[in-house]
Amino acid sequence: MSESTGSRPALDLEAFPPSFAWGTATSAYQIEGAVAEDGRAPSIWDTFSRVPGAIDNGDHGDTACDHYHRWREDIALMKELGTDTYRLSGAWPRVVPGGDGPVNKAGLDFYDRLVDGLLDAGITPSVTLYHWDLPQALQDRGGWTVRETAEHLAAYTTAVAERLGDRVTRWATLNEPLCSGWIGHLEGRMAPGLTDLTAAVRASYHLLLAHGLATRALRAAAPGARIGLVTNHSTVAPASDRPEDLAAAARMDGHTNRWWLDPVYGRGFPTDMRELYGVELPEKPGDAELIAAPLDWHGLNYYFPVTVADDPEGPVPHAREVRLPDVPRSGMDWQIDAGGLEALLLRLTEDYGVRELYVTENGSAFPDTVGPDGAVHDPERTGYLEQHLAACARAVRKGVPLAGYYAWSLLDNFEWAYGYDKRFGLVHVDYATQKRTVKTSGRRYADVIRAHREATAG
Ligand code: IFM
Repeated sequence: MSESTGSRPALDLEAFPPSFAWGTATSAYQIEGAVAEDGRAPSIWDTFSRVPGAIDNGDHGDTACDHYHRWREDIALMKELGTDTYRLSGAWPRVVPGGDGPVNKAGLDFYDRLVDGLLDAGITPSVTLYHWDLPQALQDRGGWTVRETAEHLAAYTTAVAERLGDRVTRWATLNEPLCSGWIGHLEGRMAPGLTDLTAAVRASYHLLLAHGLATRALRAAAPGARIGLVTNHSTVAPASDRPEDLAAAARMDGHTNRWWLDPVYGRGFPTDMRELYGVELPEKPGDAELIAAPLDWHGLNYYFPVTVADDPEGPVPHAREVRLPDVPRSGMDWQIDAGGLEALLLRLTEDYGVRELYVTENGSAFPDTVGPDGAVHDPERTGYLEQHLAACARAVRKGVPLAGYYAWSLLDNFEWAYGYDKRFGLVHVDYATQKRTVKTSGRRYADVIRAHREATAG
């Protein structure tokens, strides 16, 4: 970890409190592999990744980073980076393979070992219960379009919390329900691959209901739990000052941001969006209160901003993304703009009154290669990291109660519909050999963590 990272823009590290948590994040299906081991049953991603054309190169998560067997090595990498915390997700199809019904002890044993290994290494686990890997058995019964799935998530949550709740305190219910709801059921680019507005709106409702039910289950099973929801957002700008584009931006903001935040913070589902979708919500008395149950923290996943123009003939929300010329972009073709992170942190604080925030994901994919020196030099990812940490520091100076930052991702991994070509890791993975190599960005992150500790010590 001694490689020089050259001269770097100064980071205002003293903005971050001494207790600031530095972490990395992953999710089960993206790294674990071992999809048929120790009683795990298929998830919707095992199914979707077999649909011809659904995933680039026909990739799937059968082996992924083989983390199920290499978790000790991966904890050693976290230690090498000097991180305080690690955000992982539990695989529902490992723990309750049928979706509901019997709990698979071997599945829970894996997370038990992992949590103990993290704690032994001095790394605080942060467990997300649902990061998109719905048991296929539940999809066969309607998946997120039916209410029972939300109830089953709560039962699975209880099983995990009863086993790990004596050691894990930081819990998230869902990761990015927007992706499950909109990308999985409306755009069809993620599992289960539907393009049906009614299914999508119902799924979005049941996902947020599941969040509420899981929060209640966690409070009961693990009284010391500190519970949050992880949502992904983008700032939305209109392509012009034309009233039509301003209205399109308001619709896109509703679709991307307000739909997922307003109900959680007690405002109910936004009326303008209900009217736009025109789909009756499967509401029952008491649901609104469950969905808005008080949380201990909120997790923001931020990657890019969007600019939109009116698109009356296009799909809901009738707002077409406009590609700005001459702006920096990552290997995902996503616009890079750290100002969006600062703006969203401020919005969550000032508009939604969030009292404790984490950046639970932030990062960038670029086509890395291992150089002749055996190293992976990734100046673009390093720059992205620095710009976004600087944005966090500015937000903290403006009063945002930011308690930690999780880089996405610890490892290169299975990037969903993009397969393995898109690499987000601070650590490079050679999938043929499973060799891990810390990238220059990982070394820079380690330097930042060390410098922050030095700057705020004592
Ligand atoms: O890889 C994903 C992750 O699973 C959820 N948030 C965005 C990341 C990058 O696309």
